[in-house]
Amino acid sequence: MVKAHSRGRRSFAALASAASLLVALGGCAVKHPTDNLVHGKQLFVAKCGACHTLAHANTTGTIGPNLDQAFADARANGFKSNDIRGIVNFQILYPNPLGAMPAMLYKGQAAGDVAGYVAAVAARPGQDTGALGNAVANVTQKPVSEQNGVLQIDADPTGQLKYLASSATATSGKVTVKMQNKSSVPHDIAITGSGVNVVGPIVQNGGVSTIAPTLAPGKYTFFCTVPGHRAAGMQGTLTVK
Ligand code: HEC
Repeated sequence: MVKAHSRGRRSFAALASAASLLVALGGCAVKHPTDNLVHGKQLFVAKCGACHTLAHANTTGTIGPNLDQAFADARANGFKSNDIRGIVNFQILYPNPLGAMPAMLYKGQAAGDVAGYVAAVAARPGQDTGALGNAVANVTQKPVSEQNGVLQIDADPTGQLKYLASSATATSGKVTVKMQNKSSVPHDIAITGSGVNVVGPIVQNGGVSTIAPTLAPGKYTFFCTVPGHRAAGMQGTLTVK
């Protein structure tokens, strides 16, 4: 498994001093309007959680550093949530250009809302409650079965690393597997087992990834080949009869 962050990652100290430089230059990170943490959590899950684990947000991404671990030292060393907010906000706008994190996934107050949320929960025990607890719906998975040769296994539209089914059934022969992905997190669908290995194109923002393998009766696995996604839970079982 490739761990992108071991190479491209900056030290916390470097990140903190870069962020405070930004504060010194711009001054604006000191005073900011109240962040909308519910909105920040929704945005975090939609675009950040696919790469970052953050316990309160129930995200399990592994491409980037685990944000609870990343900020544990900062909390232990007495950094205030507002300091952490500044660091996260800076990272969203100016990630390491040599790293895997895309810049400007959010801007302005949207970036501030995400940073405010991460700062409020990272490396803190417990769970989100109240409005924050209800900010993001849990993914409901239902078994699906092939209809007229087509098996539809869509990705979670909110960007969580799940398909909307973890088990599927089909009859043997040619099966057209379609995976629609309404989220902005890239996903594909692959089928493996009994000598079959078929991978569909990576799609996002409403795209449909289609594969049409010919399947003999047996058990197969469907999964997303984007690094980290299968390990985080994007897989399921296909039973062909
Ligand atoms: C495509 C994967 C990917 C996405 C999406 C992504 N990140 Fe990252 N992130 C990384 C990687 C890789 C690093 C480490 C390298 C670097 O600093 O750029 C990182 C670093 C960070 C760090 C610094 C942590 C540390 O230990 O230094 C923070 C904070 C962070 N990301 C927050 C976010 C937030 C908030 C979002 C959503 C707006 C986000 N990331 C989206 C991959 C990603």
